[in-house]
Amino acid sequence: MAILPILEYPDPRLHRIAAPVATVDESVKTLIGDLADTMYAAPGVGLAATQCDVHQRVIVIDVSDTRDQLLALVNPVILRADGEQLFEEGCLSVPGVYEEVKRAEHVLVEALDREGQRFTLEASGLLAVCIQHEMDHLMGKVFVEHLSPLKRNRAVQKLRKRRRERADA
Ligand code: NI
Repeated sequence: MAILPILEYPDPRLHRIAAPVATVDESVKTLIGDLADTMYAAPGVGLAATQCDVHQRVIVIDVSDTRDQLLALVNPVILRADGEQLFEEGCLSVPGVYEEVKRAEHVLVEALDREGQRFTLEASGLLAVCIQHEMDHLMGKVFVEHLSPLKRNRAVQKLRKRRRERADA
């Protein structure tokens, strides 16, 4: 288990498209463990392998208050999406920026779990938001790319300022 470095927007590696996992072998199980460690340490509610510069279709999520309900999704596919919700999102790759994004209210997702077993999951609310946000990462898309150019620009300025302040400290 290890805590991995997290890429920060606008790092071009965040735009790489992740490849499907062929088999959930030991290396994939190790990756899931490392992503979970990294997400809990950050702390965050979700993390995609892309954010740690590993370009495989693997995401981890935990939206529980107790932080002990780890959900790992390998090769996730959304089978159905309906409804609409506006939710203020953040991202470990875009620290300090929180903006509302419009997403589906409910999703039905199919994936492999950490043992390689296929399962389906119906999600709504925060969990549905999280699944859609993390699956975007696997397609090389960061949540600020859902925003208007004006808001996205503001987010980039904010990130630059943070980085400058960190460099000066
Ligand atoms: Ni994110």
